[in-house]
Amino acid sequence: MGRRGAGTPFLLRLSLLLLLRPGGTLGCASVVVGSPVVALGSAVTASCTIRSELCRGLERGKVRITWMLDNEPVAGSQHQGPGGTEVSNLTLPQFNRTQAKLWCWVEWNGTKQRVGMAEIRAGYPPAQPFNLSCVLNLSDYGLTCQWAQGADSHLPTSVTLKCARSRAQVVTGCTPQGGRSRCTVPRRLLQLYRQMEIWVSATNALGTAESEHLCLDPMDVAQLDPPALQSIQSIPFQTDCVALAWEVARSNAHMELQCELRYRRPEEPAWALVTGIVGQAGTTQCCGFLFGTQYHFQMRCRRSSARGYWSEWSPGRNYTTHEKAPAGKLDAWWSVRPAGSRGWLEVLLRWKAPGRREANGRVLGYRVTLSPRRRGRDPPTVCNTTHTQCNFSAPAGTRRVYLSAYNAAGESAPTEVVLLERKGQPLAGLRAVPGDERSLWVHWEAPPAPPAAYVLEWERVGSVPGRCCACWQMERGRAATAALIRDGIEPFQRYNISVYPLYPDTVGVPSHTAAYSKQRAPSYAPKLHLSSISKSDAELRWDPVPVEMQNGFITSYTIFWANSTAEVASAAVSPSRSSFVIRELKPSTLYKVHIMASTAAGGTNGTSLTLVTMVLDEAEIQFLFLTLGLVFVLLILLLICVQKNGRVKQQFWPSVPDPANSSLGKWVPAELQQEPLQVPGAREPGLATISTVTVLERAAGKQPSTRGREPAVEATGPFPALPRPYVRQEARGAPGRGWATAEHGEPVQYARVVGEGYRGQQHGPRPCAPQPLLPAPGPKPYQNLWFGGGCPEELPATFPLLQGLRLCGAEEIHDGRAF
Ligand SMILES: *[C@@H]1O[C@H](CO)[C@@H](O)[C@H](O)[C@H]1NC(C)=O
Ligand SMILES: *[C@@H]1O[C@H](CO)[C@@H](O)[C@H](O)[C@H]1NC(C)=O
Ligand SMILES: *[C@@H]1O[C@H](CO)[C@@H](O)[C@H](O)[C@H]1NC(C)=O
Ligand SMILES: *[C@@H]1O[C@H](CO)[C@@H](O)[C@H](O)[C@H]1NC(C)=O
Ligand SMILES: *[C@@H]1O[C@H](CO)[C@@H](O)[C@H](O)[C@H]1NC(C)=O
Ligand SMILES: *[C@@H]1O[C@H](CO)[C@@H](O)[C@H](O)[C@H]1NC(C)=O
Ligand SMILES: *[C@@H]1O[C@H](CO)[C@@H](O)[C@H](O)[C@H]1NC(C)=O
Ligand SMILES: *[C@@H]1O[C@H](CO)[C@@H](O)[C@H](O)[C@H]1NC(C)=O
Ligand SMILES: *[C@@H]1O[C@H](CO)[C@@H](O)[C@H](O)[C@H]1NC(C)=O
Ligand SMILES: *[C@@H]1O[C@H](CO)[C@@H](O)[C@H](O)[C@H]1NC(C)=O
Repeated sequence: MGRRGAGTPFLLRLSLLLLLRPGGTLGCASVVVGSPVVALGSAVTASCTIRSELCRGLERGKVRITWMLDNEPVAGSQHQGPGGTEVSNLTLPQFNRTQAKLWCWVEWNGTKQRVGMAEIRAGYPPAQPFNLSCVLNLSDYGLTCQWAQGADSHLPTSVTLKCARSRAQVVTGCTPQGGRSRCTVPRRLLQLYRQMEIWVSATNALGTAESEHLCLDPMDVAQLDPPALQSIQSIPFQTDCVALAWEVARSNAHMELQCELRYRRPEEPAWALVTGIVGQAGTTQCCGFLFGTQYHFQMRCRRSSARGYWSEWSPGRNYTTHEKAPAGKLDAWWSVRPAGSRGWLEVLLRWKAPGRREANGRVLGYRVTLSPRRRGRDPPTVCNTTHTQCNFSAPAGTRRVYLSAYNAAGESAPTEVVLLERKGQPLAGLRAVPGDERSLWVHWEAPPAPPAAYVLEWERVGSVPGRCCACWQMERGRAATAALIRDGIEPFQRYNISVYPLYPDTVGVPSHTAAYSKQRAPSYAPKLHLSSISKSDAELRWDPVPVEMQNGFITSYTIFWANSTAEVASAAVSPSRSSFVIRELKPSTLYKVHIMASTAAGGTNGTSLTLVTMVLDEAEIQFLFLTLGLVFVLLILLLICVQKNGRVKQQFWPSVPDPANSSLGKWVPAELQQEPLQVPGAREPGLATISTVTVLERAAGKQPSTRGREPAVEATGPFPALPRPYVRQEARGAPGRGWATAEHGEPVQYARVVGEGYRGQQHGPRPCAPQPLLPAPGPKPYQNLWFGGGCPEELPATFPLLQGLRLCGAEEIHDGRAF
């Protein structure tokens, strides 16, 4: 490890350090390292020597030397050296720290003490500087060079820029300040117009590295000032050429320069370059510019004798070339339909704005005429517009219209548009697929006879027709089978795309297709309506979602239904249907139903509809009513039978002795007979439940209004349970009622037996109608209708109620309305 030169000052430094240590005993030890600066990863050797005669109190043979690298103990090997010294040698096989302190320790009088230290650094030789470049400043003629430093060597490194005149031994240069990698060689150390050798040298403890040597004349690398553009103009007029006047900067006036010019349109990213402009000043001419177009010009120069540095680009100048009348043909498309009366045609003509090259400036408008311009004759204009479409009427039989564009410099030659009929062969196939969110690819199969071009037309479904005037394009070329359309395409909207083949002499029948550039779930699901419901089926209807809200092609509708206990059931329905019948529902059950409308990109659920199925279905209800009706009819028949057939009657209602016919009745005075007849209450089994039969004879002077209300109260009460009067003799001529049904369903016989009323109303249309009639004049006081007036020959009837019914006549019962 022989770097003796570096080792000696280090040892000096080390002993100084040791002398400073307290205790005065440390001068007895020395640490020597093989090499204090090493390459990273290489081995380090060190030895620590104790001269015990110098170290007071140290007993030879009892000294133990140990090592510490920074704070880590490392093991050395101790032995006795010459001259009564104690030596410990240490080897670190792979030193991988960039900087470390190595301490030698001695155990002395029971305590450990540091007796020596060596500092070790490790790193790499300097990296080679690269990318050296120099620029001469023409103001002070200083040569500024810069370079890039390589990887860090971890060691103190000195860098200098060196320059040597050719074939001279003198090396001068500059030293960068503050760790930068650039410095300036002053004018006095340079020789101009002669070659110089320039390089960068980097040195550290492990070595020296040099950059590549540049051989240059400092003047070749002079930084020139940019030239100036003086004026720009079009010469001669009406050509596409431009003349530029320019001048170099005054600081460069004495040099031979070579310059170049660049220009571009504002929206264009790339520059056009004109090279090889020589001289100190002058004009330069270039051609091929577009008419009526703004250009941005810049110029720069360098010394022509050497491949030196270019000046900066000059400040830019703008120039707009002059205009010319538009040229070329316009792409046009039309639709024609007969308009109203007199066989006029309504023509919608659309066209594309000319390209920049054809426009020759800024197009101010377009003109449509029905005949071509002839010498000196300007045909009438049907449209003069700045838009790219026009809507006009033309006489029937118009076959050609003429379209031209104009700018400030003039009008283009007209484009003849032939309004061909659309009855040629259509495409063999057409489909559209999404391009991105805002474009669609349209693919088609060409018809057998290949057309010259195709016209694509598209329209948002659901929008106002003809709103998008840019929504068409022409694809030229027989081989075309696909086109990307992007004008007015928005995601989640349906587009109706039509493609027309254009043949030389006709236009093909269009083919249509519909497409979305992107789909998502519908905005909402349709609202469900219940159109019918029964015990187990429910029929639902819905109105389809409007196209603008579908956000895609509806792939299916799904109906979900569930009651509180069962799982959700569902059924998918084709998108063309708008009704669905849910079957096998449970009767008398509440169901919640909703619909989901799905597109390829997802589904949307609607609000739910609650429905309750019926207890019975229609047939069952009809059957029930029929049965009930039958039962009633049977009942009536039974009643009639009971009434007609005495034997049956006898069985149900055994004969009760009639007090009026008894022998008692014969001798009871007339006054007594007029007393109200009371029959003890008896509940009879059977259909007719009779509690009490009471024939009431009213006291004279009772208010008619009170009488009128009473029957209603009795009719609604819980009749059969209480022994109370149920037959009441009303005032003469008052309305009569046959039967009433109590609220609880058990038929209760209730009769208002009318005597005089019977006779008085016999000629009326409905003598015993259940409706309340106007009260007739009050009865004669104390007139017993049963026994005094009415039907004396019928009195032998055994039961007063039946007797009374018979009084009112069979009509009343047969009428059937009493039920
Ligand atoms: C050694 O240590 C002892 C006690 O710790 C002390 O008395 C003596 O002076 C020390 N000797 C030296 C040479 O420092
Ligand atoms: C210890 O190191 C010294 C100096 O490097 C050397 O002279 C001596 O031979 C070494 N001793 C041993 C036993 O390696
Ligand atoms: C340095 O070397 C030692 C052993 O020689 C090893 O334990 C340690 O991980 C190394 N450190 C680095 C940073 O490589
Ligand atoms: C060095 O120069 C080369 C070419 O001149 C360049 O590509 C590279 O980026 C430069 N490197 C640095 C660090 O400057
Ligand atoms: C050239 O030198 C002048 C004067 O020292 C200074 O002002 C100017 O900035 C320098 N130019 C460059 C490009 O360094
Ligand atoms: C030239 O035109 C461009 C674009 O119109 C503009 O941004 C720029 O400022 C103009 N430059 C000059 C010097 O007028
Ligand atoms: C078209 O309209 C413009 C402005 O509206 C007008 O200056 C021009 O004369 C018109 N051209 C014709 C041929 O009518
Ligand atoms: C063309 O114009 C007529 C009347 O000027 C109008 O009724 C018709 O809607 C227009 N057609 C289009 C497509 O704009
Ligand atoms: C697409 O447009 C054509 C013509 O404009 C029309 O005949 C066709 O019905 C439209 N198709 C749809 C799905 O709207
Ligand atoms: C619609 O509702 C059904 C049943 O509740 C559910 O399974 C489905 O995930 C829902 N769909 C959406 C898009 O939320």
